[in-house]
Parts: sequence; C-alpha cells; structure tokens
Amino acid sequence: MPVFFFSLRFLFFSAIIPLLASIFLYRFDTFDPAPLPSDALVYSTDSIPPLINDRFLTGAEFIGAGLLNSPEDIAYHRDSGLIYTGCVDGWVKRVKAFESANDSVVEDWVNTGGRPLGIAFGLHGEVIVADAYKGLLNISDDGKKTELLTDEAEGVKFKLTDAVAVRDNGILYFTDASYKYNLHHFAFDIWEGKPHGRLMSFDPITRTTRVLLRDRYFSNGVSMSPDQTHLVFCETPLRRCSKYYINEERVEVFIQSLPGYPDNIRYDGDGHYWIAMPSGVTTLWKLSFRYPFIRKLQALAAKYGFDTMIMENAGVLQVDLDGKPIALYHDPKHSHVTSGVKIGKYLYCGSLLDSHIFRLDLLKYPAQNRL
Ligand SMILES: *[C@@H]1O[C@H](CO)[C@@H](O)[C@H](O)[C@H]1NC(C)=O
Ligand SMILES: *[C@@H]1O[C@H](CO)[C@@H](O)[C@H](O)[C@H]1NC(C)=O
Repeated sequence: MPVFFFSLRFLFFSAIIPLLASIFLYRFDTFDPAPLPSDALVYSTDSIPPLINDRFLTGAEFIGAGLLNSPEDIAYHRDSGLIYTGCVDGWVKRVKAFESANDSVVEDWVNTGGRPLGIAFGLHGEVIVADAYKGLLNISDDGKKTELLTDEAEGVKFKLTDAVAVRDNGILYFTDASYKYNLHHFAFDIWEGKPHGRLMSFDPITRTTRVLLRDRYFSNGVSMSPDQTHLVFCETPLRRCSKYYINEERVEVFIQSLPGYPDNIRYDGDGHYWIAMPSGVTTLWKLSFRYPFIRKLQALAAKYGFDTMIMENAGVLQVDLDGKPIALYHDPKHSHVTSGVKIGKYLYCGSLLDSHIFRLDLLKYPAQNRL
C-alpha cells in the first residue's frame, strides 16, 4: 500500500530521526543547568503595590527617536540637566530633553569601543562607566580621556561588568554579572542557573579592587542609599534585590519575589528607588526556573538558532527606602525595559530593544489604586 509506505517513511524522517537526534544532542551536550535556590521559586503578591499603571506605553513620549541604539542605563546629571546613556554601538550619548519630546537633542559624546551599560558620576566631574566588555572605565569630564580602572579581581577577569554607583567618599561600587559568560551569551548564564556574579568596590586612591560579595546570581543593577550606609543591588534570576551594609559587610533582603526580573535600580533623590524589569514573570520563565532540563533544552535550542528567551510585560517598580512597593508601571505590550529613573515629573526609561529613551508624564498618567 503506497500511502501506508509513504507515511511510514514520512514518520521516520519527520519525527523519529529528529527525536533520536535530539536525545543524542541532549545527552551528550555538556551544558549543565543547576536548580535555583528555593526562594527564587516563590511567587507572592507582597511585592505588588496598590498603585498600578498597566498600560505605561500609553501616553509615553520618545526621546532621541532613531538616534539611541538600545540605551541601557540612564544617568541624570543634575548640574547640567543632561541625561547620559550607553548604547549598543559603544557610544555614551548625552541627551538634553525638553518639554516637547521632539525637540530633544542627542550628542554622540564618547565611544568606549565596548558596550557601555551602567553609568555614574565621579566626584570630580568624571563619568564612570561599567562597560560590559571592557570593565570599569573613567571618562574625563571633557570626554577626551578614557581610562580603564579595573577589569579583574582576585585573578578572575570580569566578563560582564554591569552597573556602578559612587559613594560620597569617592569609592566606586559595581557589579560583574558573570565571570563566565559575556553579554552576547548572557542568556546561557541565566539558563545555567549558577552564581557567577560579584559585587565589588574600587578605591581610586589605592587603585585596589575588592570583592565584597561573590557567588551572586547575575548581579545586575546597584544603587547607593541616600544615607551612604548601604548599597541595594539586584539579582536578576532570583527576582530579588538585597542591601549590602558597607561598614558591617552584611547582606539583607531588600525586596524579593518581584513581579519580574530586575535589571537596573536607580535612586531618584526623593525617597524612592526605581527597579526596572525587562520581563514580567511568564509561564515559560516559571517552568524553566523550576526545571533545569527545560533550561537545558532552551540552551540547546539557542545553539541551533532558536531563541526561546521570550520577554514580555516589562515594567518599572517604585519602592521606598525600606523596599516597600509603592507603584508599578508596566505594559504587556512592551519588553526589555532595563532602566527607569524619575526626573522631575517624568519617568525616563532605557531599553535593550528601542532606538529611543521613552518617558512618561507621571502626573498625566499616574499609577492608580486598583481597588
Ligand atoms: C514628534 O515626532 C513624531 C515622529 O516624527 C511625530 O509622529 C509626532 O507627531 C511629533 N510630535 C509632535 C508633538 O510634534
Ligand atoms: C578619573 O580621571 C580623572 C582624570 O581624567 C581624575 O581626576 C579622577 O580622579 C579619576 N577618577 C577616578 C574615580 O579614578
């Protein structure tokens, strides 16, 4: 029977061969994801604030449209009123925003030759950049000199220098998200589920780099508390931000069980931190964090060109100094929001996908009580 014959062959080539091949690939691939700590698998509504704007793209305005290629972090320089942001093409750009978003002016300031992520201001007008590929950089205030401050600690090179904060005594605090995977392969770090991240300090006087915390899970954004006693830093896959008390060298949970995966955290000078989350929690993320074999399948798929790292429902969470959630701005239609900072009445957001910064007028489009 030709039809039967055909379908058997068809079955063989379309299903059995690929199945055997996948089992073979799966068994012999050396990628070995680990279970995550159990508190990373807890989902709770404690971190969801009473005030929510769940369509925060509505009313958002684009700043520097077409001129900012994946602006990841945003740092606001109060004295000059300029916004500094790092782009995927290596440019640190300076943006002057006006009342009319379309009047904004973008200046290509300094190209690091790497991928500038976190940005902070030093005590002498210099700009400190956490460059994913280069390490911690010091750019002079006139933009003419770029100096590498550090790119390794305890003999281990940084692979994904991520964010930086400055204390009022000049010491720099920064994160390396992973010593194993670079930015291009960051998804593998998340899928592997092992702690390759470090929180460190750099003293510009002694030029020493100190590891403050090791074995952190993709240590990402970091911010200095306004009283200068501690840092708050985010661990993306754990959906958690922690405090690190500088003098006591002590760690404490700041906020956990976040509704998404935290990236940069920014203090607004006015009693609140803003935590950006490039993706909200999805069913796939939940399953893959629970079951390492799913992460192994995702990593295998990625090696063969299939991207399953799907991000959706990005948001920015406003919390107070004790980590109590105040307001959440999110949008199911948006993803990859990596930073949020309040400047005046606006929330400015950076992103890994867009070619602009977007901003939302918080007076016109406030988060509202959902009860
Ligand atoms: C700003 O520019 C965009 C794109 O060019 C345009 O669609 C929009 O109408 C402009 N807005 C204003 C207020 O001029
Ligand atoms: C950065 O470099 C400038 C000189 O361009 C220097 O004055 C400043 O102290 C340096 N900052 C740090 C944190 O090393």
